[in-house]
Amino acid sequence: MGKKGTPFPFPCPFFTLIILLPLSLSKSDDSDAMSDLAKSLSNLPSSWKPNSDPCNNWSGVRCDSSKRVTEINLARLSISGSLPTSISSLSSLKSLQLQSNSISGAVPSLSSLGSLQRLTLDSNSFTSLPADFLSGMTNLESLSIDDNPFEPWTLPASLDPAPSALTSFSASNASLSGTFPEVLATLPTLQSLRLSYNNLSGGLPASLNGSSIQSLQLNNQQSVAKMTGGIEVIASMPQLTLVWLQSNGFTGPIPDLSSLNSLQSFNVRDNQLTGVVPTSLTSLSSLQNVSLSNNKLQGPFPSFSSNVVADVDSGNNFCNKLPGPCDSRVTLLLAVAAGFEYPSSFADSWTGNDPCGSNAWLGVTCDSSGKNITVLNFANQKLTGVISPDIANITSLTKLVLSNNNLVGTIPDTLTSLPNLQVLDVSNNNLTGDVPKFAPTVTLKTSGNQFGQSGSGSSSGGSSSGSSSGGSSDSGGSSADGSNSKKLRIGWIIGLVVIVVALLALIIAAAIVRRRNKKNIKKFKPVHSSMDSDTDMVKIQMSSTDTSANVKSNNYGFQGLYSEGSSASVNPNGHNLFDQGMHMSIESLRKATENFSEANVLGRGGFGVVYKGNLNGMLVAVKRSECDPVSKKGLQEFRAEIDVLTKVRHRNLVALLGYCENGSERLLVYEYMPGGTLGDHLFDRQNSSGHQQLTWMQRLTIALDVARGIEYLHSLAQETFIHRDLKPSNILLDGEMRAKVSDFGLVKLAADREKSVMTRLAGTFGYLAPEYAITGKISTKVDVYAFGVILMELITGRKVLDDSLPDDESHLVTCFRRNLLDRDRFMKSVDPSLDLSDNESRDALLEMADLARHCTAREHIQRPDMSHCVNRLAPLVDQWRPTSYAEEDEGDLDSGLELNEKLKKWKSNENTSTADFSTFG
Ligand SMILES: *[C@@H]1O[C@H](CO)[C@@H](O)[C@H](O)[C@H]1NC(C)=O
Ligand SMILES: *[C@@H]1O[C@H](CO)[C@@H](O)[C@H](O)[C@H]1NC(C)=O
Ligand SMILES: *[C@@H]1O[C@H](CO)[C@@H](O)[C@H](O)[C@H]1NC(C)=O
Ligand SMILES: *[C@@H]1O[C@H](CO)[C@@H](O)[C@H](O)[C@H]1NC(C)=O
Ligand SMILES: *[C@@H]1O[C@H](CO)[C@@H](O)[C@H](O)[C@H]1NC(C)=O
Ligand SMILES: *[C@@H]1O[C@H](CO)[C@@H](O)[C@H](O)[C@H]1NC(C)=O
Ligand SMILES: *[C@@H]1O[C@H](CO)[C@@H](O)[C@H](O)[C@H]1NC(C)=O
Repeated sequence: MGKKGTPFPFPCPFFTLIILLPLSLSKSDDSDAMSDLAKSLSNLPSSWKPNSDPCNNWSGVRCDSSKRVTEINLARLSISGSLPTSISSLSSLKSLQLQSNSISGAVPSLSSLGSLQRLTLDSNSFTSLPADFLSGMTNLESLSIDDNPFEPWTLPASLDPAPSALTSFSASNASLSGTFPEVLATLPTLQSLRLSYNNLSGGLPASLNGSSIQSLQLNNQQSVAKMTGGIEVIASMPQLTLVWLQSNGFTGPIPDLSSLNSLQSFNVRDNQLTGVVPTSLTSLSSLQNVSLSNNKLQGPFPSFSSNVVADVDSGNNFCNKLPGPCDSRVTLLLAVAAGFEYPSSFADSWTGNDPCGSNAWLGVTCDSSGKNITVLNFANQKLTGVISPDIANITSLTKLVLSNNNLVGTIPDTLTSLPNLQVLDVSNNNLTGDVPKFAPTVTLKTSGNQFGQSGSGSSSGGSSSGSSSGGSSDSGGSSADGSNSKKLRIGWIIGLVVIVVALLALIIAAAIVRRRNKKNIKKFKPVHSSMDSDTDMVKIQMSSTDTSANVKSNNYGFQGLYSEGSSASVNPNGHNLFDQGMHMSIESLRKATENFSEANVLGRGGFGVVYKGNLNGMLVAVKRSECDPVSKKGLQEFRAEIDVLTKVRHRNLVALLGYCENGSERLLVYEYMPGGTLGDHLFDRQNSSGHQQLTWMQRLTIALDVARGIEYLHSLAQETFIHRDLKPSNILLDGEMRAKVSDFGLVKLAADREKSVMTRLAGTFGYLAPEYAITGKISTKVDVYAFGVILMELITGRKVLDDSLPDDESHLVTCFRRNLLDRDRFMKSVDPSLDLSDNESRDALLEMADLARHCTAREHIQRPDMSHCVNRLAPLVDQWRPTSYAEEDEGDLDSGLELNEKLKKWKSNENTSTADFSTFG
């Protein structure tokens, strides 16, 4: 009403008001606003007569003694129409109840309704809330606006003045967007908060700690990301009686709920919760119903008292199907996982009750008895949290690798008691404190942490210099006492100088060798001959009609490359990668390839042509394709490839050196791989290309190289890439027959949280995993399957699909798995050109064959992870190349190996620390 005095040019309605007032002295102050209301709404009770006294018998209206309207109740009357702005003049209104009608339009400003205690607008057709919603309503106690088709809205970060008596806030299915409205978390009076079926994303704020909320309903958020993060803050909300968080994206464990002694209803079904169900929940005496299904909960099957209505069994990863303790090794491993806050990847992989069984557990390797856990390798798993002292209970452990994670805290002293420990690698974490004193037989890698003060422990100083130089690692460092340390340091300096000089010499030598080879190179066969896919392997690109819709509506949290969402975080509009100095001019590439001369063609395929080029003395492979402007497919693959290759660098992935866009033409420049493709070597029996047959050792090494490259793709720090088209023609060999994976045009980026997503089918027949071919569901296991097929091809020397053979033998995978059942028959199927005369080779062959079988399991969950493949292949290769410690130090994961043997070999080299480098020569 303060607006009455305003000199600004909208006086007319107020004039009318002022003129009318004296004419209706006998009526209520609120007559006009109520008349307005009566005129704006239709289907009202007949007693609502405009221009009559609303305090006289209007149904649902109450007034106070001074004839001010205090209550309007028009609930459930099928009223339509809209609310007039003049409703804001009903300043004595305490209760406005309009629920379950069809009132539409905007909710007008209510900020002058300072007396309003109860506002109920739910189940109408209101389209928007006023910008000043909630402000000014200082006496509001109860608010309900559920089930309205509001435009997306958010609550302001603060309300001034805040509603000081609000006990109930209900806005479910009301288009509330953004993150959890923290302004509500801090209201000291709030008891009931219902925000289900909105568009909220993000986590539960820490400010909920100590809140007075008793009933918390945040279930079924409709946003793509849903609500995420951990739920530990509810442990600090002791008033809670009801917690509904179902159908969201919450992760991490159920916290200790022992302080919630009034909790009656606990529903967290359909989230991604991990870890063991705490006894603080199962034994909670106030509990009446609980729903835990469809999470990734682990450990013993939870057992609730018989008067609790419990929904726990479906879709979790409990060790057993019924209550009862887990296998003791499972219990121990879960205690280890607890330290890491129960990572999702472990929950996915650690299923069943036997960590040494046929389902490989991520990072866990057992001895041949299948009983004792010997290796825990959790490198590069993005782990957070601490190293659990309970690891010390796994007494059979020989190797513990925790490198390249974000672990904090100290190395527990208990680990020094592990009787069989040989290697402890905690490099590149955020560990603090002092490194405990391990037995001298333990190889320690501790660099890249924040241990102690420098100088206090020469052991940690020694460790970091030892590892960072890439040579052998030191053992315990107990020998480095004060008088020796100077000598040691000088020794290191000399060593480093020798190493640098040696490396320089090697590089120069390599360059000279390459120049010499230049003339001979033309006789090598095409490098990127994906073209053989055009002859007998059909490359398929099918589009299932509504995949993008699927992806969105299923909330898989996945976006294809260059869809709106992913580019926002990855590379807005695909542009930032064009700033990385990798652009090359078309002129330089013309020059490098002698104007794309036919003589320089290395290969042709569906994608275009690959040329050999000489870029200022450096040999390169230039892939040139026309971008189809209609389908945009070419452009997407081009960008996918650049995008992947600028983010990934690994010695088993072909490196991208540059790119060029020239009109509709797209060019990618790679390192040149003189050895051709694996396919050339394996399948060219007539040897028309002059490629040498690969020896068994070379094949083993290639298998490990490929496994390492793909493992790296699958376990990058931020993202998971899936290759989707792994096959021998995409595996390139260098001059030493070491392999690198190439062709990233079909690579998909999968959000970490999601294991499998629907996608456009892409790949090559024969290498397609069954579930991918049938359902289009893609996961990293698609690459594992293809890898298994390649292992079979390496062993048999035949192609996966061979039409020249009888029908029942034309499919290698079927035939190979069948042959494996009979050892003699299997040995007959092995490539006859392989020399397998010694037992070691034969054992390695059988091991690789078994891995191939495992990788091609029909069910994707039965296939191992790529890291498991690396772990199984590495020891086989190490038998041949025992000095591979140098490789490990380049950051690779590795393996459950013959540690004793390696240790011995390494020790004999200990005095000549440069010896390792000789293997590079
Ligand atoms: C009030 O309305 C009721 C019916 O709605 C009617 O029976 C009654 O006579 C009315 N009283 C007055 C004073 O108008
Ligand atoms: C959500 O609200 C709309 C009206 O805006 C209603 O039609 C729909 O049934 C509600 N959905 C649920 C799940 O209650
Ligand atoms: C959530 O937001 C999207 C757009 O961001 C919108 O299309 C959808 O209707 C909203 N859903 C609800 C329940 O508010
Ligand atoms: C909650 O707050 C109390 C004190 O204000 C603090 O001691 C406690 O650690 C907090 N808990 C959480 C989960 O933030
Ligand atoms: C590990 O051993 C310690 C000491 O014996 C024991 O207190 C602890 O409970 C054990 N941890 C597990 C997970 O069994
Ligand atoms: C390995 O398991 C066997 C039983 O299968 C047991 O006898 C042996 O002690 C175990 N070794 C270690 C180191 O725990
Ligand atoms: C390591 O921990 C310190 C403090 O504990 C923190 O400031 C720093 O950001 C952490 N570094 C990493 C890489 O996590």
